Amino acid sequence: MLQIGDELMYFSSVFLLVMLGTRSATGASVFTLFLYVFMMMFRFPPVPADQASRVLRPRDSFGGVPVVAHRGGSHDAPENTLAAIREASRNGATGVELDLSFTVDGVPVLMHDETVDRTTNGSGPVSKLQFVQLRRLDAAARHRLKDKFSAEKVPTLQEAVEECIRHQLTIFFDVKDQPDKAASALHALYKKFPGLYNSSIVSSFEPKVIYKMRQTDPKVVTALTHRPWRLSRYEDGTPRTLSALGQLWSAALDVLLDWAHHHLLWKLCGISAILVQKDFISLDYVQYWAERGVEVVGWTVNTAVEKDYYQNLLKIGYITDSLLEDCDPRY
Ligand SMILES: *[C@@H]1O[C@H](CO)[C@@H](O)[C@H](O)[C@H]1NC(C)=O
Ligand SMILES: *[C@@H]1O[C@H](CO)[C@@H](O)[C@H](O)[C@H]1NC(C)=O
Repeated sequence: MLQIGDELMYFSSVFLLVMLGTRSATGASVFTLFLYVFMMMFRFPPVPADQASRVLRPRDSFGGVPVVAHRGGSHDAPENTLAAIREASRNGATGVELDLSFTVDGVPVLMHDETVDRTTNGSGPVSKLQFVQLRRLDAAARHRLKDKFSAEKVPTLQEAVEECIRHQLTIFFDVKDQPDKAASALHALYKKFPGLYNSSIVSSFEPKVIYKMRQTDPKVVTALTHRPWRLSRYEDGTPRTLSALGQLWSAALDVLLDWAHHHLLWKLCGISAILVQKDFISLDYVQYWAERGVEVVGWTVNTAVEKDYYQNLLKIGYITDSLLEDCDPRY
Protein backbone atom coordinates (compact mmCIF):
# COMPACT_ATOMS: atom_id res chain seq x y z
CA MET A 1 0.00 0.00 0.00
CA LEU A 2 2.99 2.31 -0.45
CA GLN A 3 1.79 5.43 -2.21
CA ILE A 4 4.88 6.42 -4.15
CA GLY A 5 3.19 9.51 -5.61
CA ASP A 6 2.02 10.55 -2.17
CA GLU A 7 5.39 10.14 -0.54
CA LEU A 8 7.23 11.95 -3.32
CA MET A 9 4.86 14.86 -3.13
CA TYR A 10 4.95 14.94 0.65
CA PHE A 11 8.72 14.92 0.99
CA SER A 12 9.20 17.36 -1.90
CA SER A 13 6.84 19.85 -0.26
CA VAL A 14 8.67 19.51 3.05
CA PHE A 15 11.97 20.04 1.25
CA LEU A 16 10.68 23.10 -0.59
CA LEU A 17 9.12 24.63 2.50
CA VAL A 18 12.23 24.19 4.61
CA MET A 19 14.38 25.52 1.80
CA LEU A 20 12.17 28.59 1.42
CA GLY A 21 12.28 29.09 5.16
CA THR A 22 16.00 28.58 5.70
CA ARG A 23 17.46 29.30 2.23
CA SER A 24 19.76 26.36 2.68
CA ALA A 25 19.59 23.41 0.30
CA THR A 26 21.84 21.35 2.57
CA GLY A 27 19.74 22.08 5.64
CA ALA A 28 16.55 21.23 3.75
CA SER A 29 18.04 17.97 2.43
CA VAL A 30 19.25 16.89 5.85
CA PHE A 31 15.89 17.72 7.44
CA THR A 32 13.89 15.94 4.75
CA LEU A 33 16.12 12.89 4.96
CA PHE A 34 15.79 12.87 8.73
CA LEU A 35 12.00 13.01 8.44
CA TYR A 36 12.03 10.20 5.88
CA VAL A 37 14.17 7.95 8.09
CA PHE A 38 12.00 8.84 11.08
CA MET A 39 8.86 7.80 9.22
CA MET A 40 10.42 4.56 8.02
CA MET A 41 11.69 3.65 11.46
CA PHE A 42 8.78 4.66 13.63
CA ARG A 43 5.68 3.97 11.66
CA PHE A 44 3.47 0.96 12.26
CA PRO A 45 2.33 -1.05 9.27
CA PRO A 46 -1.47 -1.46 9.21
CA VAL A 47 -2.97 -4.79 10.26
CA PRO A 48 -3.64 -7.23 7.37
CA ALA A 49 -6.49 -6.10 5.11
CA ASP A 50 -8.57 -9.23 5.76
CA GLN A 51 -8.44 -8.63 9.51
CA ALA A 52 -9.46 -4.98 9.05
CA SER A 53 -12.37 -5.96 6.85
CA ARG A 54 -13.63 -8.50 9.37
CA VAL A 55 -13.93 -5.55 11.76
CA LEU A 56 -15.07 -2.87 9.34
CA ARG A 57 -17.32 -4.90 7.02
CA PRO A 58 -18.58 -7.47 9.51
CA ARG A 59 -21.67 -8.91 7.85
CA ASP A 60 -24.44 -8.05 5.52
CA SER A 61 -27.01 -5.80 7.06
CA PHE A 62 -28.50 -2.51 5.92
CA GLY A 63 -27.43 -3.26 2.35
CA GLY A 64 -23.94 -4.26 3.39
CA VAL A 65 -22.82 -1.21 5.31
CA PRO A 66 -22.05 -1.49 9.00
CA VAL A 67 -24.28 0.48 11.36
CA VAL A 68 -22.74 1.36 14.69
CA ALA A 69 -24.76 2.60 17.67
CA HIS A 70 -23.13 5.75 19.08
CA ARG A 71 -22.39 5.25 22.81
CA GLY A 72 -24.48 2.12 22.44
CA GLY A 73 -27.30 4.16 20.86
CA SER A 74 -27.80 7.15 23.13
CA HIS A 75 -31.24 8.04 21.79
CA ASP A 76 -32.75 4.57 22.10
CA ALA A 77 -31.39 3.74 25.58
CA PRO A 78 -29.21 5.28 28.33
CA GLU A 79 -25.79 5.75 26.74
CA ASN A 80 -22.83 3.47 27.52
CA THR A 81 -24.89 0.89 29.43
CA LEU A 82 -25.48 -2.84 28.99
CA ALA A 83 -29.12 -2.07 28.26
CA ALA A 84 -28.01 0.13 25.36
CA ILE A 85 -25.85 -2.67 23.96
CA ARG A 86 -28.76 -5.13 24.15
CA GLU A 87 -31.13 -2.59 22.61
CA ALA A 88 -28.70 -1.86 19.75
CA SER A 89 -28.41 -5.55 19.01
CA ARG A 90 -32.19 -6.01 19.08
CA ASN A 91 -32.61 -3.12 16.64
CA GLY A 92 -30.15 -4.53 14.13
CA ALA A 93 -26.92 -2.60 14.73
CA THR A 94 -23.78 -4.40 13.57
CA GLY A 95 -21.71 -2.70 16.26
CA VAL A 96 -21.56 -0.24 19.12
CA GLU A 97 -19.28 2.65 19.91
CA LEU A 98 -18.31 2.82 23.60
CA ASP A 99 -16.36 5.37 25.64
CA LEU A 100 -13.57 4.30 27.93
CA SER A 101 -12.92 6.05 31.24
CA PHE A 102 -11.25 5.22 34.58
CA THR A 103 -12.34 5.53 38.20
CA VAL A 104 -9.92 6.87 40.83
CA ASP A 105 -9.06 3.29 41.82
CA GLY A 106 -8.19 2.51 38.20
CA VAL A 107 -11.21 0.45 37.10
CA PRO A 108 -11.92 0.82 33.35
CA VAL A 109 -15.59 1.77 32.93
CA LEU A 110 -17.86 3.24 30.27
CA MET A 111 -18.46 6.99 30.53
CA HIS A 112 -18.40 9.67 27.86
CA ASP A 113 -18.08 12.88 29.86
CA GLU A 114 -15.40 13.76 32.38
CA THR A 115 -18.12 14.03 35.01
CA VAL A 116 -21.10 11.82 35.81
CA ASP A 117 -23.51 14.78 36.02
CA ARG A 118 -25.14 14.64 32.60
CA THR A 119 -26.03 10.95 32.58
CA THR A 120 -26.41 9.77 36.20
CA ASN A 121 -27.96 10.98 39.45
CA GLY A 122 -24.50 11.62 40.90
CA SER A 123 -22.08 14.48 40.43
CA GLY A 124 -18.37 15.13 40.03
CA PRO A 125 -15.57 13.78 37.85
CA VAL A 126 -15.40 10.02 37.19
CA SER A 127 -11.69 10.20 37.93
CA LYS A 128 -12.44 11.26 41.53
CA LEU A 129 -14.96 8.48 42.27
CA GLN A 130 -14.20 5.04 43.67
CA PHE A 131 -15.67 2.23 41.60
CA VAL A 132 -18.05 1.28 44.45
CA GLN A 133 -19.31 4.87 44.58
CA LEU A 134 -19.84 4.98 40.83
CA ARG A 135 -21.62 1.67 40.95
CA ARG A 136 -24.27 3.05 43.28
CA LEU A 137 -25.39 5.60 40.72
CA ASP A 138 -28.32 5.23 38.38
CA ALA A 139 -26.93 5.37 34.82
CA ALA A 140 -30.39 5.94 33.35
CA ALA A 141 -31.33 8.79 35.68
CA ARG A 142 -31.21 11.54 33.04
CA HIS A 143 -32.39 9.62 30.00
CA ARG A 144 -35.66 10.39 28.24
CA LEU A 145 -36.61 6.69 28.60
CA LYS A 146 -35.52 6.35 32.23
CA ASP A 147 -38.75 4.63 33.23
CA LYS A 148 -38.18 1.87 30.72
CA PHE A 149 -34.54 1.38 31.75
CA SER A 150 -34.60 1.70 35.52
CA ALA A 151 -31.76 0.38 37.67
CA GLU A 152 -29.08 0.55 34.98
CA LYS A 153 -25.55 0.73 36.39
CA VAL A 154 -22.37 2.16 34.89
CA PRO A 155 -20.75 -0.99 33.44
CA THR A 156 -17.10 -1.95 33.60
CA LEU A 157 -15.30 -2.18 30.29
CA GLN A 158 -15.14 -5.94 30.64
CA GLU A 159 -18.86 -6.33 31.34
CA ALA A 160 -19.58 -4.28 28.23
CA VAL A 161 -17.22 -6.37 26.11
CA GLU A 162 -18.80 -9.61 27.31
CA GLU A 163 -22.24 -8.28 26.45
CA CYS A 164 -21.06 -7.31 22.94
CA ILE A 165 -19.46 -10.71 22.38
CA ARG A 166 -22.71 -12.36 23.45
CA HIS A 167 -24.56 -10.34 20.81
CA GLN A 168 -21.83 -10.60 18.16
CA LEU A 169 -21.46 -6.85 17.93
CA THR A 170 -18.39 -5.10 16.60
CA ILE A 171 -16.95 -2.71 19.18
CA PHE A 172 -15.57 0.76 18.48
CA PHE A 173 -13.59 1.65 21.62
CA ASP A 174 -13.39 5.42 21.80
CA VAL A 175 -10.48 6.66 23.88
CA LYS A 176 -10.22 10.35 24.73
CA ASP A 177 -6.90 10.57 26.52
CA GLN A 178 -4.69 8.74 29.02
CA PRO A 179 -2.85 6.79 26.29
CA ASP A 180 -0.79 4.63 28.68
CA LYS A 181 -3.65 3.57 30.92
CA ALA A 182 -6.01 2.98 28.01
CA ALA A 183 -3.50 0.98 25.98
CA SER A 184 -2.64 -1.32 28.86
CA ALA A 185 -6.30 -1.83 29.89
CA LEU A 186 -7.29 -2.61 26.31
CA HIS A 187 -4.28 -4.83 25.72
CA ALA A 188 -5.23 -6.91 28.79
CA LEU A 189 -8.72 -7.25 27.36
CA TYR A 190 -7.47 -8.37 23.93
CA LYS A 191 -5.38 -11.03 25.63
CA LYS A 192 -8.36 -12.26 27.59
CA PHE A 193 -10.73 -12.18 24.60
CA PRO A 194 -8.57 -12.73 21.46
CA GLY A 195 -11.71 -12.70 19.30
CA LEU A 196 -11.62 -8.91 19.75
CA TYR A 197 -8.79 -8.70 17.21
CA ASN A 198 -11.41 -9.72 14.65
CA SER A 199 -14.31 -7.77 16.06
CA SER A 200 -13.16 -4.45 17.48
CA ILE A 201 -11.31 -1.25 16.71
CA VAL A 202 -9.72 1.38 18.91
CA SER A 203 -10.33 4.98 17.88
CA SER A 204 -9.30 8.41 19.13
CA PHE A 205 -9.08 12.06 18.19
CA GLU A 206 -5.59 11.94 19.69
CA PRO A 207 -2.91 10.40 17.45
CA LYS A 208 -0.79 9.73 20.53
CA VAL A 209 -3.47 7.40 21.89
CA ILE A 210 -3.51 5.37 18.68
CA TYR A 211 0.26 5.36 18.40
CA LYS A 212 0.56 4.12 21.99
CA MET A 213 -2.06 1.44 21.36
CA ARG A 214 -0.17 0.07 18.39
CA GLN A 215 3.11 0.27 20.26
CA THR A 216 1.57 -1.79 23.06
CA ASP A 217 -0.15 -4.24 20.72
CA PRO A 218 0.43 -3.86 16.94
CA LYS A 219 -2.23 -6.48 16.15
CA VAL A 220 -5.06 -4.19 17.22
CA VAL A 221 -7.15 -2.57 14.45
CA THR A 222 -7.18 1.22 14.91
CA ALA A 223 -8.79 4.40 13.60
CA LEU A 224 -8.20 8.11 13.90
CA THR A 225 -11.26 10.27 14.52
CA HIS A 226 -11.32 13.55 12.66
CA ARG A 227 -13.46 16.65 12.48
CA PRO A 228 -12.08 19.44 10.30
CA TRP A 229 -11.94 22.80 12.17
CA ARG A 230 -12.20 21.03 15.53
CA LEU A 231 -9.73 23.35 17.27
CA SER A 232 -11.31 26.59 16.10
CA ARG A 233 -14.99 25.68 15.99
CA TYR A 234 -17.59 23.83 18.05
CA GLU A 235 -19.56 20.93 16.59
CA ASP A 236 -22.33 23.26 15.46
CA GLY A 237 -19.85 25.45 13.57
CA THR A 238 -19.70 28.44 15.93
CA PRO A 239 -16.20 29.78 16.72
CA ARG A 240 -14.64 28.69 20.01
CA THR A 241 -13.15 32.07 20.78
CA LEU A 242 -14.23 35.59 20.08
CA SER A 243 -10.77 37.12 19.80
CA ALA A 244 -9.80 37.51 16.15
CA LEU A 245 -6.18 36.56 16.76
CA GLY A 246 -7.10 33.47 18.75
CA GLN A 247 -9.50 32.46 16.01
CA LEU A 248 -6.85 32.92 13.32
CA TRP A 249 -4.27 30.97 15.30
CA SER A 250 -6.54 28.00 16.02
CA ALA A 251 -7.73 27.97 12.40
CA ALA A 252 -4.09 27.82 11.27
CA LEU A 253 -3.51 24.88 13.62
CA ASP A 254 -6.63 23.26 12.18
CA VAL A 255 -5.22 23.50 8.66
CA LEU A 256 -1.98 21.94 9.85
CA LEU A 257 -3.78 19.18 11.74
CA ASP A 258 -6.00 18.38 8.78
CA TRP A 259 -2.96 18.14 6.54
CA ALA A 260 -1.15 15.95 9.08
CA HIS A 261 -4.10 13.56 9.35
CA HIS A 262 -4.29 13.08 5.60
CA HIS A 263 -0.59 12.88 4.83
CA LEU A 264 1.40 11.88 7.87
CA LEU A 265 -0.42 10.65 10.97
CA TRP A 266 -2.51 7.98 9.26
CA LYS A 267 0.64 6.34 7.97
CA LEU A 268 2.66 6.77 11.14
CA CYS A 269 -0.10 5.07 13.16
CA GLY A 270 -0.95 2.52 10.46
CA ILE A 271 -4.69 3.07 10.87
CA SER A 272 -7.30 0.93 9.11
CA ALA A 273 -10.12 3.45 9.27
CA ILE A 274 -10.79 7.14 9.72
CA LEU A 275 -13.94 8.24 11.53
CA VAL A 276 -15.00 11.57 10.09
CA GLN A 277 -17.74 14.07 10.94
CA LYS A 278 -20.54 13.36 8.45
CA ASP A 279 -20.66 16.77 6.75
CA PHE A 280 -17.14 16.40 5.37
CA ILE A 281 -17.62 13.11 3.53
CA SER A 282 -18.12 12.85 -0.23
CA LEU A 283 -17.59 10.06 -2.77
CA ASP A 284 -14.24 11.61 -3.73
CA TYR A 285 -13.22 11.68 -0.09
CA VAL A 286 -14.08 7.99 0.36
CA GLN A 287 -12.12 7.26 -2.81
CA TYR A 288 -9.07 9.16 -1.54
CA TRP A 289 -8.91 6.88 1.48
CA ALA A 290 -9.83 3.71 -0.41
CA GLU A 291 -6.71 4.22 -2.52
CA ARG A 292 -4.73 4.16 0.71
CA GLY A 293 -6.45 1.06 2.05
CA VAL A 294 -8.33 3.03 4.71
CA GLU A 295 -12.10 2.81 5.33
CA VAL A 296 -14.11 5.95 6.05
CA VAL A 297 -16.84 5.79 8.68
CA GLY A 298 -19.20 8.77 9.14
CA TRP A 299 -20.57 10.18 12.40
CA THR A 300 -23.11 11.03 13.69
CA VAL A 301 -25.62 10.06 11.01
CA ASN A 302 -29.05 10.50 12.53
CA THR A 303 -31.67 11.03 9.85
CA ALA A 304 -33.27 8.61 7.39
CA VAL A 305 -32.18 10.77 4.44
CA GLU A 306 -28.55 10.74 5.55
CA LYS A 307 -28.62 7.03 6.30
CA ASP A 308 -29.93 6.35 2.82
CA TYR A 309 -27.07 8.43 1.37
CA TYR A 310 -24.47 6.47 3.37
CA GLN A 311 -25.99 3.12 2.57
CA ASN A 312 -26.79 3.52 -1.09
CA LEU A 313 -24.50 6.19 -2.46
CA LEU A 314 -21.36 6.36 -0.35
CA LYS A 315 -21.72 2.69 0.62
CA ILE A 316 -19.77 3.17 3.82
CA GLY A 317 -20.49 2.49 7.47
CA TYR A 318 -21.84 5.07 9.85
CA ILE A 319 -22.27 5.75 13.54
CA THR A 320 -25.74 6.79 14.70
CA ASP A 321 -27.51 7.76 17.90
CA SER A 322 -30.66 5.87 16.93
CA LEU A 323 -31.48 2.73 15.01
CA LEU A 324 -35.17 3.58 15.21
CA GLU A 325 -35.92 7.19 14.33
CA ASP A 326 -34.51 10.58 13.36
CA CYS A 327 -33.01 12.49 16.26
CA ASP A 328 -30.69 15.37 17.12
CA PRO A 329 -26.99 14.59 17.10
CA ARG A 330 -25.12 14.02 20.36
CA TYR A 331 -21.51 15.03 20.17
C1 LIG B 1 -29.01 7.28 42.58
O1 LIG B 1 -30.00 6.32 42.30
C2 LIG B 1 -29.76 5.06 42.92
C3 LIG B 1 -30.81 4.06 42.37
O2 LIG B 1 -32.09 4.58 42.53
C4 LIG B 1 -29.81 5.21 44.42
O3 LIG B 1 -29.59 3.96 45.06
C5 LIG B 1 -28.72 6.19 44.82
O4 LIG B 1 -28.77 6.43 46.22
C6 LIG B 1 -28.87 7.52 44.06
N1 LIG B 1 -27.70 8.30 44.32
C7 LIG B 1 -27.74 9.60 44.54
C8 LIG B 1 -26.46 10.29 44.79
O5 LIG B 1 -28.81 10.20 44.52
C1 LIG C 1 -9.67 -14.09 13.11
O1 LIG C 1 -10.41 -14.69 12.06
C2 LIG C 1 -9.64 -15.52 11.21
C3 LIG C 1 -10.54 -15.99 10.07
O2 LIG C 1 -11.74 -16.50 10.53
C4 LIG C 1 -9.06 -16.69 12.02
O3 LIG C 1 -8.25 -17.50 11.20
C5 LIG C 1 -8.23 -16.12 13.18
O4 LIG C 1 -7.75 -17.17 13.99
C6 LIG C 1 -9.05 -15.15 14.00
N1 LIG C 1 -8.18 -14.52 14.99
C7 LIG C 1 -8.45 -14.54 16.28
C8 LIG C 1 -7.44 -13.90 17.16
O5 LIG C 1 -9.47 -15.04 16.74
